[in-house]
Amino acid sequence: MDGMSQSPSSPLYLHGYSPAEQRRLVEQAEYWCDCLILPDLPYAPGERLLDVGCGAGAVLGVLAAAHPGLVLAGIDHEARQVEAARAHLTSLGRDDVDLRVGDAASLPWPDGSFDHVYLMWFVEHVPGIEPILREVRRVLRPGGTITVNETEYESFHLWPENDDWEYLEAAMFRHFRAHGQAHAGRRLGTLLVAAGFRDVTNRLVGFHYFAQPGCDALRRHTHYTADYIAPALPEFVAMGHDAARLQRGLDHLLTIHTHPHGAFSQMVYRARARA
Ligand SMILES: C[S@@+](CC[C@H](N)C(=O)[O-])C[C@H]1O[C@@H](n2cnc3c(N)ncnc32)[C@H](O)[C@@H]1O
Repeated sequence: MDGMSQSPSSPLYLHGYSPAEQRRLVEQAEYWCDCLILPDLPYAPGERLLDVGCGAGAVLGVLAAAHPGLVLAGIDHEARQVEAARAHLTSLGRDDVDLRVGDAASLPWPDGSFDHVYLMWFVEHVPGIEPILREVRRVLRPGGTITVNETEYESFHLWPENDDWEYLEAAMFRHFRAHGQAHAGRRLGTLLVAAGFRDVTNRLVGFHYFAQPGCDALRRHTHYTADYIAPALPEFVAMGHDAARLQRGLDHLLTIHTHPHGAFSQMVYRARARA
């Protein structure tokens, strides 16, 4: 991890802010675009959308392409992310996005400023999310929508089973729990209710891939997963885990697509609600 700023509501951000990580965020949003980010969004041209914890602008870029009439804004507490977001969105022809450096617990917009808010892979990084969700509701107009996508870091199941992979998954879970919320997805429904949202739903979306000739989906998903686990291995070791076992677990993840019975399952949650 490189040097990073902290806000009152967030601990150290576990993925760091390197250019490589910023590129990974852009590739990640493109990866999840059709199956998770875009389905069933009730957005109309001219409506105003805020992305909270916008990172490198990856999700804003996907939303801008699919809904070119939206008026977009984003906030992240790290200046390097906002700078990267500005460059990314400008490269997509969107130099009109209202991007700000700031803490999500104190959003710099008046009440009712937005028709929609989007949060993706954000709640998992914030242990004290409750005040932020109340703040998000404040900047939404009455009836405005919130969409929140999160996973759960105990829901990754591989076949064939492998003790070293399970050891690595447990290390990843501990790491996320130390920095944020490893169970973010399953908590979204009640968190939104507690923050005063209505019409709350939290839909469980399962992803399952298996080895089959001519299909690259399993390799793509396991390699996408490895791309964010691998940079964190030194931190898992610093937490007391065995480096050799972690590496064997990662190697298992990276090679199951070559196994005739290789398979991977993961749960993701997609919560929706109205202010
Ligand atoms: C995993 S990134 C996700 C970025 C983006 N939503 C995406 O999916 O590409 C999480 C981002 O949340 C930001 N963040 C964490 N806590 C924050 C806070 N309290 N206020 C604003 N941004 C925060 C981090 O700096 C980081 O850029």
